[in-house]
Amino acid sequence: MSFESLWAEESAIGRSPDTGGYTRGGWSPTEREATHWFLDQCAARGLTVESDGIGNLIAWWGASDGPGVVTGSHLDSVIDGGAFDGPLGVVSALAAVDQLRAEGFEPGVPIGIGAFVEEEGARFGMPCLGSRVAAGVLPAEKALQLKDRAGVGLGEALENAGLDPAAVGPSPLLRRMGTFVELHVEQGRGLTAPVGVASSIWPHGRFRFTFGGEANHAGTTLMEDRHDPMLTYAMTALAANKQARLAGARATFGRLSVEPNGTNAVPSQVTAWLDARAADTATLESLLAAITKQATERADRDGTTLEVTPESVSPIVDFPAGLRDRLVNVLDGAPVLPTGAGHDAGVFSDAGIPTAMLFVRNPTGISHSPAEYAEMDDCLAGVEALAAVLKDLAK
Ligand code: GLV
Ligand code: MN
Ligand code: MN
Ligand code: MN
Repeated sequence: MSFESLWAEESAIGRSPDTGGYTRGGWSPTEREATHWFLDQCAARGLTVESDGIGNLIAWWGASDGPGVVTGSHLDSVIDGGAFDGPLGVVSALAAVDQLRAEGFEPGVPIGIGAFVEEEGARFGMPCLGSRVAAGVLPAEKALQLKDRAGVGLGEALENAGLDPAAVGPSPLLRRMGTFVELHVEQGRGLTAPVGVASSIWPHGRFRFTFGGEANHAGTTLMEDRHDPMLTYAMTALAANKQARLAGARATFGRLSVEPNGTNAVPSQVTAWLDARAADTATLESLLAAITKQATERADRDGTTLEVTPESVSPIVDFPAGLRDRLVNVLDGAPVLPTGAGHDAGVFSDAGIPTAMLFVRNPTGISHSPAEYAEMDDCLAGVEALAAVLKDLAK
């Protein structure tokens, strides 16, 4: 099937009629629909699907054992995300395999198409949840303690999707991942050619800031008598923005929870999640330290409290230079660029699997939004590039 037809089918799944965006949290009905579509595509091609306890999938073309070359990405999304982040890598993998088969290419090692679960961490708060558990960097006991915003535990979500929580743990799938190549839409206007190759992934941390104060009447409480955690939070958000600019880094408060969340009450508590990223670990650490220092000083002034809890920290990922250069050669000198976005490719690379990434141009750089976009011609160039890379790696 052509890339265009595959893309039309996949990108119709769960698209919001209101925003044009996608909300496919891990194991949610829309994510399952996309996953079942993927499984149907694999069945139609006679691929052999292997899965693990948490629901990661690899569909194999070729011999049924031994390590191979795996390509793919994820089918989940952020809340109201775009069509490309994740699915582009999975759909391009199907199209590239179709192309290689049509050409009569006979792989010397198996080629696998992977779809890894809850990459965004939009439902359970942990980015790359599926790959982290698979790689053994997140123990099953810890993963199974995670709850979504509705209070549903990971175990229950898995059971609802027909998976057995007792099977969650380091994944046998990794043993067969001889090499991993993830194709992904570029996410920051860093690519002016149709296709590029990744050099590294910035270190990334998610931190929960809990600001405690005193609930009180909005109409009667003198401004000077308040212990308002919203004020401390607001000043912290400004400080984070300033510190990130100074450091050439990124800091975002994109999620907030307010207690009691009433228009006419000074809040008792504000919980805010900081997403911070920088080009190197030292910069990320000093950014967090600077934000925390200013937040603490402000809390002292406001008579509020502050607790900072790391929820996930991912170190820098430098993709292996040999493999990266091999891709650049195959692609006649494609540009090489780093990314501030996280990917399962980073987890697999850290786990010792030789890993590379291909990026497809994003003309606006917008991502994690319904406005995320890539031109069809660039997507087709991505499929061509991926097919060429697979041919080289699996010959
Ligand atoms: C996921 O794509 C992230 O980088 O947050
Ligand atoms: Mn992604
Ligand atoms: Mn993403
Ligand atoms: Mn990502």
